[in-house]
Amino acid sequence: MSIKIIEIPKVHDVRGSLAVLEKDDLPFEVKRVYYLYDVPTDTYRGGHAHKDQESLVIALSGSFEIICDDGKSKQRFMLNKPNQGLYIPTLVWREIENFSSGAVCLVLASTEYDESEYIRDYQVFKSLK
Ligand code: TYD
Repeated sequence: MSIKIIEIPKVHDVRGSLAVLEKDDLPFEVKRVYYLYDVPTDTYRGGHAHKDQESLVIALSGSFEIICDDGKSKQRFMLNKPNQGLYIPTLVWREIENFSSGAVCLVLASTEYDESEYIRDYQVFKSLK
């Protein structure tokens, strides 16, 4: 599956909204969950690609932008809805910027943390594509 926004099913009533992801809604099995918070608005995160990890990135609160580079073209996504996730497959260089105050960036990952599957050098990334 290529880079795409996935709509997360939600249940809405007068008491508010509940969004839910079940295993069949995801293109991979989740092995790890992490989240970014207290991110200064003038900073950026990411700046890497993964050999193995697939991700689903969700703006649980606030907003931020993700620039995805598949080696051929770049796409910019604004995430600001808790019931939307951006699916990012392997070998996509991503940068995350323009965090709003109070933004929480949740990442569902297909792998456990393993620094050796990170590609943190853009030239190495380009050479692999
Ligand atoms: P880093 O990869 O720089 O974060 P970003 O996603 O913004 O590029 O990770 C920051 C630090 O956190 C780095 O020392 C690695 C560590 N880390 C873990 O220990 N476990 C994890 O699951 C993740 C994602 C990062």
